[in-house]
Amino acid sequence: MKGFIGIFDSGYGGFTILEKVRDHLSKYDFLYFGDNANTPYGPRSSETIHKFTLQAVKILFDKGCYLVILACNTASAKVLQTIQQNDLPNIAPGKKVLGVIRPTVEAIGSLTHTRHIGVLGTEGTIYSGFYSIEIRKLFPDIIVTEEACPAWASLVEKGEHNQAYVDHFIKKHIKSILNKDPLIDIIILGCTHYPLLETKIKKYLPNSVSILSQGNYVAKSLVNYLYRHPEIDMHCSKNGIECFYTTESKNKFISMANIFLKKKINATQLNLI
Ligand code: DGL
Repeated sequence: MKGFIGIFDSGYGGFTILEKVRDHLSKYDFLYFGDNANTPYGPRSSETIHKFTLQAVKILFDKGCYLVILACNTASAKVLQTIQQNDLPNIAPGKKVLGVIRPTVEAIGSLTHTRHIGVLGTEGTIYSGFYSIEIRKLFPDIIVTEEACPAWASLVEKGEHNQAYVDHFIKKHIKSILNKDPLIDIIILGCTHYPLLETKIKKYLPNSVSILSQGNYVAKSLVNYLYRHPEIDMHCSKNGIECFYTTESKNKFISMANIFLKKKINATQLNLI
């Protein structure tokens, strides 16, 4: 049996991954699931994030997905390993759940010249220390400085990311991370909501600092994964279709998708408990 590739996020952030993955895998079918009713995940405990994420993964499996991407750094940092190691063998041996942090970390080694990098993310991602741990494993010489940006994902989720008052929050955290380490030459946007703030973020970065936005790296890594795993690829349907599920009102989701994805979509509402 063939099914869609599932893409899960706490809200609209996963759109930034879906868009890039779609560019690289135009023939594949994707099922997007946004837990907009429970966003933001950033301040939530690991137990709660695990409870919501696992339910979402099970729903995506029930809908025929063989492969699910957690397009959420917070869930990738805090619960992906538990889901892969403890839950998957019981609920769906043979099916796969992948995150967005590993492909991002793999890219960083060849991009930084100063070997000083910065990571911006939610409280959950940053306080988990997961980025630093993963970067140290692959590139022990790189100095990592992290900064939690608590309000950012919510500003995007509310659709207020272009408003002038948002600059205050952007400026504050950019200044803070560059004060902590002025040698940073790459800043990872370690939250899938943040690319929607990229224009504002750029305004406060000196020219010597580049932004690493995850979408392309996740997409390339997925292409490579499917090539290396034909046993998963053969379960992926290829009709170029996208389906959308949200835990919030479907009308709100549809109008936000209109803005973020710049296209008309349909969505179905469902609940997590
Ligand atoms: N987009 C998510 C991430 O990449 C989560 C943001 C949130 O819900 O706090 O971390």
